[in-house]
Amino acid sequence: MSKKKIQSAFFCQNCGAQSPKWLGKCSQCSEWNTFTEEIISKEKQLKTFNGYNKVNIPISINEISFSKEKRIKTLDIELNRVLGGGIVPGSVVLLGGDPGIGKSTLLLQLALNSDEKTLYVSGEESENQIKMRAQRVDNSCKNCFVLTETSTQNIFQQIEKVNPDIIIIDSIQTLHTSYIESSPGSVSQIRECTSELIKYAKQTGTSVFLIGHINKDGAIAGPKVLEHMVDTVLQFEGDRNHVYRILRAVKNRFGSASELGVYEMGQGGLREVNNPSEILISDRDEETSGVAIASTIEGARPLMIEIQSLVSSAVYGTPQRSATGFDVRRLNMLLAVLEKRCGFRLGIKDVFLNITGGIKPDDAAIDLAVICSIFSSDQNKPIRMQTCFAAEVGLSGEIRAVNRIEQRISEAEKLGYNQIIISKFNKFNASKFTIEIQKCAKIEEVFQLLF
Ligand code: TYD
Ligand code: MG
Repeated sequence: MSKKKIQSAFFCQNCGAQSPKWLGKCSQCSEWNTFTEEIISKEKQLKTFNGYNKVNIPISINEISFSKEKRIKTLDIELNRVLGGGIVPGSVVLLGGDPGIGKSTLLLQLALNSDEKTLYVSGEESENQIKMRAQRVDNSCKNCFVLTETSTQNIFQQIEKVNPDIIIIDSIQTLHTSYIESSPGSVSQIRECTSELIKYAKQTGTSVFLIGHINKDGAIAGPKVLEHMVDTVLQFEGDRNHVYRILRAVKNRFGSASELGVYEMGQGGLREVNNPSEILISDRDEETSGVAIASTIEGARPLMIEIQSLVSSAVYGTPQRSATGFDVRRLNMLLAVLEKRCGFRLGIKDVFLNITGGIKPDDAAIDLAVICSIFSSDQNKPIRMQTCFAAEVGLSGEIRAVNRIEQRISEAEKLGYNQIIISKFNKFNASKFTIEIQKCAKIEEVFQLLF
């Protein structure tokens, strides 16, 4: 009697752990109720891309010849920077982001503009739709091939014919390998298809870009191991109603993981924004209360951002605190500091905070601007338009020093600010700046200076 061919197993949708039986709690990641059944086939050992059967032997690290890593420079300066200076041959990049944010557009533009031979594999759109988009973004297509296919077996066949330098897969969730029975998008399919592509990339030196869908929590759909397997994870974010998009490196084996690229989505596709500070600050004619400008650093780049807040009397018993682009817990902490140090009664006030431009800065140096904007709104006294801030605020109301202060000051100076408020404890050479630098040690001093 022949053995049953089709077998099923249970996979944790969170971490990808496999179990022969259903489990309520995953023994690896301790998540509850994440196991779902997926059909796997017994002939799993048969892989599509089995490599060229090269056997590697251990060699001394001194014997490894090292030539300076070659990078493929794309025309897209923002993408080059986020990747750490261009595309590394043989690297696998995963790009995640909300639906409709522009992932397909970004990578199609890369394919159209690149001098290298690029294969754009789409499992989501037809050739016509891709052509339509390509005409819309209106680029000089040099070396771009398009394939609409979802089976990895067929994709590898075509890849061998075309022999591209860059492969773009839109999206990894639509691919399926015929050696696993479960449906496309399931944990085992995603893992298997990715590992086939990674193997191909590493052995042939082809760069692979994978587009990944994200789930409702904002994480890339599929097993967490996916992010461990690839070299670089990029996140494309921004407000869908806003025209600006931010490309951020979450993980990067070949560069800094805090780099950031800014794009503008327009009629003709995505356009790089070379001076993001200018767009992040809204045009104002008159001074309005509740607005403060912070000089932050994102990745290697200084960025001026605008913080707006609104403090109003609480209508309901519990005051509301809401923040867009800023951590609500940190906001609560700063409010507690204000209450304790400045006798500011916030228990009866609603506080709303907004960081303009739809970005989520990850820099403690915006604390002082947040506190000042809240205080300004509460007192209904505007802060001078030419003043900006760069300091962290501690629990006792002290103004703390932040890193790379010279870069922050020179960005503020470049953009026409004539006063910057920083911590007294920042050590640097102030003689080369013409901007007025105010050093404070306590938030009370800052308020005295401003209001
Ligand atoms: P898309 O790249 O399809 O998003 P994703 O692949 O992340 O789901 O982007 C689609 C959105 O971008 C859509 O809402 C229309 C908009 N768009 C423009 O505004 N201008 C353009 O030139 C293009 C191509 C798209
Ligand atoms: Mg898409």
